[in-house]
Amino acid sequence: MKSTFLWKLFAVFALIAAMGLLALRFADERMTHLIILVAAFALLIASSIGFFISRSFSRSLHDIIDVADRIADGDFSRKILPKRRNELATLALTINDMGEKLQEHFDELRRQKERLQTILDGMVEGVLVTNDEARIELMNPAVCTMLGLDVTSLRKNVLECLRHRDLHDSIVRVLHEARSEEKEIELLRGNEKRTIIIQTAPLFEKNYGVSGAVSVFEDVTSFRRLENIRREFVANVSHELKTPLTSICGYAETLLSDQPSDVSSTRFLQKIYHNGLALQKLIDDLLNLARIESGRQPLLKEPIKLYEFCEELHELYVDTLRAQMITFENKISSSLILSADRAALRRILNNLFENALKHTPAEGRIMVSAFQHPKNCIVMIEDTGSGIASESLPHIFERFYRVDKGRSRDVGGTGLGLAIVKHLMHIHGGEVAVESELGKGTRFSLTFPLS
Ligand SMILES: Nc1ncnc2c1ncn2[C@@H]1O[C@H](COP(=O)(O)OP(=O)(O)OP(=O)(O)O)[C@@H](O)[C@H]1O
Ligand SMILES: [Mg+2]
Repeated sequence: MKSTFLWKLFAVFALIAAMGLLALRFADERMTHLIILVAAFALLIASSIGFFISRSFSRSLHDIIDVADRIADGDFSRKILPKRRNELATLALTINDMGEKLQEHFDELRRQKERLQTILDGMVEGVLVTNDEARIELMNPAVCTMLGLDVTSLRKNVLECLRHRDLHDSIVRVLHEARSEEKEIELLRGNEKRTIIIQTAPLFEKNYGVSGAVSVFEDVTSFRRLENIRREFVANVSHELKTPLTSICGYAETLLSDQPSDVSSTRFLQKIYHNGLALQKLIDDLLNLARIESGRQPLLKEPIKLYEFCEELHELYVDTLRAQMITFENKISSSLILSADRAALRRILNNLFENALKHTPAEGRIMVSAFQHPKNCIVMIEDTGSGIASESLPHIFERFYRVDKGRSRDVGGTGLGLAIVKHLMHIHGGEVAVESELGKGTRFSLTFPLS
């Protein structure tokens, strides 16, 4: 209000001075002196008012610039207190408001950062964030202990800090291919070898693409150690049980072949013999599984004519198929060649075929088919049997898992078959999958990589 008044006053005196100067042309000598006097006085007052206005403007502007500079430096404590109500005052109030809002955002960001840091500090798993050049940007205390890193490692390349080519290559692959990767590595910590599972995922930034990667490190050394102990224990016990059991079965078989006259003796001997055989199969399966898991199972890949291979398998089951009135269809192309370990493939297909036979009722069908793709070959075994309930599907590859324990006891089976199939597929670099619908049937798909 005051400033507008000053502006008006300035305008009035400036106008008086200008009009005075104009009037000089028409005035006589006496008037000239008077006009000059009035104009000079008006000019003096106008310049004083002008000086006053400009000084007050520049002070206000200076205050505003000072506060804006402080806000830019992250200091939100200063506020501008406008002395007058003019446009500059409005600007000052807007800047005050902006400063308050920025402070709120900064506080929220700081709170979020602190929360994230607390989570990272408390994690047992190690977390390492790298930028798009595989340079370390963030790490939590767990990863520092696990990998022997410290603050000097920040902004250095992973390879430079850790000297682990596999880990570095895995991160670079994730950055280039923009997809997650899981890797198991072994690291030396002091004299101790640690086994670590690393899950690396790409970090995406809007309008930029992959801006880095985050890796989560889990130390599974004790878990692996326990697994080894369990595996060795099972293998040793199974091995120790094998010899006496072979004797039991052998003697039972010999006594049975002598055709004992006593009916109950024959029945008892038959029970001993059959249960002994079932135990022998269980022990063989346990030993096989332990051998495959320990990596001691040699894999001899060779080209296999799959159609003929499945026909040989069919021959083994012809009588059972006929007795159970089940049709077998081999839909594999006779020209298809699969690269696999012959013994392992036989065990895989036998397991799947026996399962299909056990769970398919009379007049059902079992089909094998295979498809060659650019990178892999998929072999499928399907049946029109009882199917598997969806809640059981995720578990059927676990050791000793049987969907219906009562029925499995009747049809025979210990629940190791599919665990063996899964491991044999893994050592081939492939995998096994299952689809099933209750009452309709089941399809197992084996994916073999082409190598
Ligand atoms: N084709 C199938 N149809 C229906 N159920 C199946 C089929 N294949 C497997 N299953 C279910 O999955 C379970 C696990 O199969 P797996 O082959 O591992 O064990 P098993 O056949 O019971 O015993 P083993 O193979 O050790 O003699 C089976 O008990 C069965 O319930
Ligand atoms: Mg089975």
